[in-house]
Amino acid sequence: MGWKGILGFEYGIVQAPLGPDISGPHLVAAVANSGALGLLRAPDWESPDYLRELIKKTRTLTDKPFGVGVVLAFPHEENLKVILDEKVAVLQVYWGDCTRELVTKAHSAGVKVVPQVGSVEGAKQAINAGVDGIIVQGREAGGHVIGQDGLISLVPRVVDLVGDRDIPVIAAGGIGDARGYVAALALGAQGVCLGTRFVATEESNAHPAYKRKLVEMAETEYTDVFGRARWPGAPQRVLQTPFYKDWRLLPAHENEANQPVIGHSTINGVEKEIRRFAGTVPNATTTGDLESMAMYAGQGVGLIKEIISAGEVVKSLVEGAQLIMQQNFN
Ligand SMILES: Cc1cc2nc3c(=O)[nH]c(=O)nc-3n(C[C@H](O)[C@H](O)[C@H](O)COP(=O)(O)O)c2cc1C
Repeated sequence: MGWKGILGFEYGIVQAPLGPDISGPHLVAAVANSGALGLLRAPDWESPDYLRELIKKTRTLTDKPFGVGVVLAFPHEENLKVILDEKVAVLQVYWGDCTRELVTKAHSAGVKVVPQVGSVEGAKQAINAGVDGIIVQGREAGGHVIGQDGLISLVPRVVDLVGDRDIPVIAAGGIGDARGYVAALALGAQGVCLGTRFVATEESNAHPAYKRKLVEMAETEYTDVFGRARWPGAPQRVLQTPFYKDWRLLPAHENEANQPVIGHSTINGVEKEIRRFAGTVPNATTTGDLESMAMYAGQGVGLIKEIISAGEVVKSLVEGAQLIMQQNFN
């Protein structure tokens, strides 16, 4: 099986960029220090100075390479310039056109480009754009979900499409432990990208109440209840909290824009009001009615039994995968 490091990193493990402000310097540096690829999350608005500070802060915590994720559906040109100027190792992009022009610009700055896609068509476009790796997101994934297919069929289809090109395929969605890592390798992926498991770590900037829910709860649902006004047409997978269960059939004409303010968060240095049905999960600064806020989680959430350090997550994935392969596939 394809057990090896990817994109110049020791292991084939990626910590997904986690908005809003969940994967900050402490999480990303901890992941980098353990030999995996950690991804900061650029703000959803142009904030080049703030982003430069985030990158610099991360560099005070690790001398290992790391990357930044950008959601292309939001303003990003100025942020992108900083990412290339700072020459981080990897630019991850999601939800928008990963063009050949973008890839060429990044490559001339020495930055690798890894889009997250949710379909064979998305993978085709990425290959044509000349990307360095492809994260394949299955419908099992926590947070926003761009495609409809499950990983077990989508990954091997993308692997076949990539063929013998030197483009690692990285599986994302529902992977919570070493068994998922090995399963992804068996499907032909060279790496895995985990979001929910890294939210539930000591270093993540998620609110402790949200982390606790990820340990306690096991059921998720694919929905579009949250964030309809700010990010239309972007469904997400969330925990089935009591609040969510009460509102899961929210009428189509309702959205967060005309709802009451239920709390406040500082997101990338900016104080924001959180309205009911906003698509923003609680981070460490959030105050107010946390129980009524969106809580993103993938289908692997039931595998999370405790909050551990990000380094322990990486170590248990690596050691667990090696053990499974020795015991079952040698
Ligand atoms: C709290 C949270 C925030 C996320 N934010 C982003 C993001 O900003 N950009 C992105 O590309 N993906 C984001 N994702 C999705 C991940 O990239 C990834 O596809 C997903 O976490 C994989 O599924 P898993 O959570 O089951 O591991 C987010 C996921 C979660 C749980």
